[in-house]
Amino acid sequence: MRVSVIGVGYVGIITAVSLAELGHNVVGMDDNKEKVEYYKRGESPIYEEGLEEALKRNINNGRLSFTSDIKEAIEHGEIIFICVGTPSRPDGKADLSYVERVAREIAKNAKDYKLIVEKSTVPVKTSQQIIKTINLYNKHGVELEVASNPEFLREGTALYDFFNADRIVIGVSSKKAENMLKELYKGIDAPFVVTDPNTAEIIKHASNSFLAMKISYINMVADLCEATGADVEKVAEGMGYDKRIGKDFLRAGIGYGGSCFPKDVRAFSQIGKENGLDFSLLDNVDRINRDRIERFITKLKKAHWVFKDKIFTLWGLAFKPGTDDIREAPALKVMEKLLEEGAILRVYDPRAMDNVKKKFPPSEKLYYAKDPYDAAEGSEAILLITEWEEFKNINFEKIKKIVMTNVIIDGRNLYDSERMKAEGFIYYPVGKPEVDIR
Ligand SMILES: NC(=O)c1ccc[n+]([C@@H]2O[C@H](COP(=O)([O-])OP(=O)(O)OC[C@H]3O[C@@H](n4cnc5c(N)ncnc54)[C@H](O)[C@@H]3O)[C@@H](O)[C@H]2O)c1
Repeated sequence: MRVSVIGVGYVGIITAVSLAELGHNVVGMDDNKEKVEYYKRGESPIYEEGLEEALKRNINNGRLSFTSDIKEAIEHGEIIFICVGTPSRPDGKADLSYVERVAREIAKNAKDYKLIVEKSTVPVKTSQQIIKTINLYNKHGVELEVASNPEFLREGTALYDFFNADRIVIGVSSKKAENMLKELYKGIDAPFVVTDPNTAEIIKHASNSFLAMKISYINMVADLCEATGADVEKVAEGMGYDKRIGKDFLRAGIGYGGSCFPKDVRAFSQIGKENGLDFSLLDNVDRINRDRIERFITKLKKAHWVFKDKIFTLWGLAFKPGTDDIREAPALKVMEKLLEEGAILRVYDPRAMDNVKKKFPPSEKLYYAKDPYDAAEGSEAILLITEWEEFKNINFEKIKKIVMTNVIIDGRNLYDSERMKAEGFIYYPVGKPEVDIR
């Protein structure tokens, strides 16, 4: 099938590459020319396991190409995916201006039937708004249909997730659209949830908000564990064996970040309010999550009551392992607060440092290290923020020799308290008793 993908960011590029892998003829379009040039060379401006290989393979076999010309992309695709961003507005609602702009362009330029598929995460009733827009701008009077096909991939395992999806949700208004999308995804062994566009849009927001709620819930419980000397990991284990609850997303930590959960929780809450409903549950999910940073820093305060001119190490900057994405990454908030208080930071992340440097340029107060050990040189506390595999296998004998003081604040419960105690560290995990040997 001829497919166009408008907006080749994290979601768009995975969609484009994966559909080409399935045998379709795909054009990826983005108005960021620099990004398009990267892709044309078979290089990816973002890090995602296996992406560059798949990109090169499909460019070479002629199934995948890129353009920054939206007219060209519109002409090419019988199915056109909208994968542009839907960021938070200051009031928490989703900014749909990018989606609207693409819908307008499609309506103005389409010369034959197109199935327009919204893959971006959008509030319920967005497809209805898109229909209004295309009816207004449809100069050639062609048949244009809109479907919703939300994306559930996880950054870090995005390609795997595409081909091993738990489900494929399609919100359609006609049998023709349903059949086209089923044909498109032939080869992927996942159940289809076929429904109307409004329902499909709610499925995405409800799923992300639910997952975020699980994280905030266990973090709330972690606070109680800290107050009472209990162990949140055992609590989560004890809860997780119950099949109705499940083990996933019950890891207490420094909170969720990334480009999806924070904005989707806020947008879903706003939709509830717009419809006169009490969605304050989600406001609390968001608040609990935002509180994590302060609680994390409070632990550092227990170890060091003054931050000024102290050397602190940050291990991990990406919002989660396996990606270089730093959108709403907890590490950035921690960096901001510590720099504000006059600390000196030595930071390291296997993938995300180039992105962080754009926001926080290197300075005499901020050093981007070569590896975890370089980051720990002379350190007065190590703050573990992203649980990259590399940090699991740290040689603490070596660390002890190079740090100034043995303090670890673990935002992800990556290390074992007993081991930390045996190694002689003052250790603050999440939702578990601290190890303070002073
Ligand atoms: N990142 C994820 O893990 C993830 C997962 C599921 C769903 N989503 C949703 O998918 C959508 C996209 O997210 P993302 O992370 O890929 O965002 P992104 O910012 O990485 O990508 C968006 C791309 O759209 C391009 N763009 C914007 N306006 C354009 C226009 N008019 N014409 C052409 N290109 C345009 C931008 O240049 C950018 O490359 C969002 O709604 C997001 O919530 C994201």
